[in-house]
Amino acid sequence: VNESVPPQTLSGRTVEALADYIISGKVSNICVMTGAGISTSAGIPDFRSPDTGLYANLARLNLPYAEAVFDIGYFRENPEPFYALAHELYPGKYRPTVTHSFIKLLQDKGMLMKLFTQNIDCLEREAGVTDDKIVEAHGSFARQSCIDCGSSYPEEDIKRHIDAKEIPRCHNCKGLVKPEIVFFGEQLPEAFFRSRGLPAQADLCIVMGTSLTVQPFASLPQMTREQTPRVLINKERVGGIGSGTDDVLILGDCDEGVRKLAKACGWLEDLEALWAQT
Ligand code: APR
Ligand code: ZN
Repeated sequence: VNESVPPQTLSGRTVEALADYIISGKVSNICVMTGAGISTSAGIPDFRSPDTGLYANLARLNLPYAEAVFDIGYFRENPEPFYALAHELYPGKYRPTVTHSFIKLLQDKGMLMKLFTQNIDCLEREAGVTDDKIVEAHGSFARQSCIDCGSSYPEEDIKRHIDAKEIPRCHNCKGLVKPEIVFFGEQLPEAFFRSRGLPAQADLCIVMGTSLTVQPFASLPQMTREQTPRVLINKERVGGIGSGTDDVLILGDCDEGVRKLAKACGWLEDLEALWAQT
């Protein structure tokens, strides 16, 4: 990581000023932080949007409260709601969005330091972002294991059970099997804590599609240096971003936001070509 010290001024907090900074040659360590909002246009609901969010639509699972579906204590008693949801969310049925391709474009241009994602849909990987650049802060469906004896569980078995809407049981102790998604009440992966110092070395921070309501992920944008520009590409203002001297707000749909930024950087054709290949 070259200790590039970001310039004090973006000469204004507009998309054009931001693009000038990005293509100035001074940017090579961008930290990107994402949430469910970047996958909604792929057809995967986010959690907290009113009406369309997952938490507004879990009523049919008669949960005591919406987030119980990802609560480890509740899961032990009632694994059915999570597995009903897993049937809908399991990766493989969805195409990455142009926002995922924008992150891949930053990687292709050698500017992506790290992507911190809260999403469990693996669409970043499907868009071509490489494993070394991704921190899946809330885990993912990539692996599954028994919550009692820890034995790992074969992927083809959990796929079969999820398709059949059955509850997979450990081959070793008959305990409950759970994908390595971070439930409320569980520790985040080691990789998150190992990478948490990176935003302080970034020369740009881009936050997209997240309400920044769940800690400790929500603190990441606060870990950048004062002079590091932060960009929020989101339908609503979150996390106090916009108050910093070099914060840039690109409010609205994130797919439109990344196209606007790519266009200002002269990268729109590259972006569309990249997305067309996903
Ligand atoms: N374009 C831009 N912003 C969008 C779009 C879109 N197409 N769709 C939704 N958003 C915004 C919403 O306005 C909201 O601010 O994305 C944010 C989504 O917030 P949440 O639904 O809370 O999702 P997220 O921030 O990822 O949730 C964090 O909560 O339930 C836990 O572990 C789960 O990882 C998840 C965490
Ligand atoms: Zn077991």
